Amino acid sequence: MRFTTVCHVTKLILESTCIDMRFYQEDRYAFLTEWYDPTAALLRRYQLFYYPKDGSVEMFDVKNQRIFLRRTKYDEIHQEDLFVGNRVNVFSRQLNLIDYGDQYTANKLGSKKERTLALIKPDVVTKIGDVLELIYSSNLIVTKAKMTKLTWSQAADFYVEHQSKPFFSNLVQFVSSGPVVAMELMGDEAMSIWRRLLGPADSAVARREAPQSVRAQFGTDGIKNVGHGSDSLAAAARELEFFFPSTIGHGPSNTAIYTDCTCCIIKPHAISEGLTGKILNSISAAGFEISALQMFNVDRANAEEFYEVYKGVVTEYPSMVTELCSGPCMVLEIHGTDSPQTFREFCGPADPEIARHLRPTTLRALYGKDKVKNAVHCTDLPEDGVLEVQYFFKILDG
Ligand code: CDP
Ligand code: MG
Repeated sequence: MRFTTVCHVTKLILESTCIDMRFYQEDRYAFLTEWYDPTAALLRRYQLFYYPKDGSVEMFDVKNQRIFLRRTKYDEIHQEDLFVGNRVNVFSRQLNLIDYGDQYTANKLGSKKERTLALIKPDVVTKIGDVLELIYSSNLIVTKAKMTKLTWSQAADFYVEHQSKPFFSNLVQFVSSGPVVAMELMGDEAMSIWRRLLGPADSAVARREAPQSVRAQFGTDGIKNVGHGSDSLAAAARELEFFFPSTIGHGPSNTAIYTDCTCCIIKPHAISEGLTGKILNSISAAGFEISALQMFNVDRANAEEFYEVYKGVVTEYPSMVTELCSGPCMVLEIHGTDSPQTFREFCGPADPEIARHLRPTTLRALYGKDKVKNAVHCTDLPEDGVLEVQYFFKILDG
């Protein structure tokens, strides 16, 4: 159980002001959350209650000691999104769940949640969609992702524990030979589930002993063996810090090239519906080259800025902004000389209903729900391709 000292005082106040679980007949989960209020440039703290029986939420303003949001049914939050470290969106506010609000919630929802590092090695980066499909079907979610290319010395640092082993230099050489994708996976027993999914280190052994495993299906040999998974919680913490450092701008760089490219964003609704692997598979199967890939948590101000050209032009502009900042999205740089036009055609008409009638094999026909939750954004005008890619990979990844 993780109760930080920072939250301790707040928790005492909360526990004395809020109704105790012992008198509570109905299941209720409590969290301490923080919301960055851009207008006041302040971090505001709320307690968030979630009632699984009817999917309603309630918010309590910690500083002012008053109800902020009366209990209201809210379909966009699901119990599986509720764990410390995650971000949820409540009526357009992105709330960071910073701690459990009571012991009951911590016991019930917090016990086995883990984060681990999954590294997709250069041999299967083009098959990342297939690997993601297996990850999602094992009830893990991807909370961070970044395509990067390690230098020899970065790879040697990452594998420092193996530096005296005979295979060390081959391993480091291979891992730094091409792009890799680092991901933070989260879920119950994420570390052991991902290692089990990978299977034995040698792909040939994996084919004999664990034929369903990722290495059995996609690996070549002992070195070209698809991926890496942290082997302890301490290793996971170190390895996550290596790729996703808490200090901005210190991790290995992204792989964007900013020439002959277009921008694709897999929207938050598609990520939370577990469609990421399918969408990446469709993109690769259609022959597009993904030259950069990264997940972002876009805040409202940045979403407004990114969609600025649609303001006053497209009636859906406000909802598009809300969708883009409603959870993590995945941004891709698609590389190819005529990529803006051909990729746009491949995405299909903006309205998935129309797409399903006119262009049933396009991404939006296959994975979109409506004009706003239409699975992907793609650059409209060819001359904007580089600019949109730069917005994410240069400015926001800064
Ligand atoms: O990756 P995993 O944790 O399953 O295995 P490891 O024993 O920690 O080794 C790290 C990596 O070194 C493996 O994934 C292999 O790519 C490589 N290795 C090798 O090439 N030959 C070996 N005899 C053992 C490991
Ligand atoms: Mg290992």
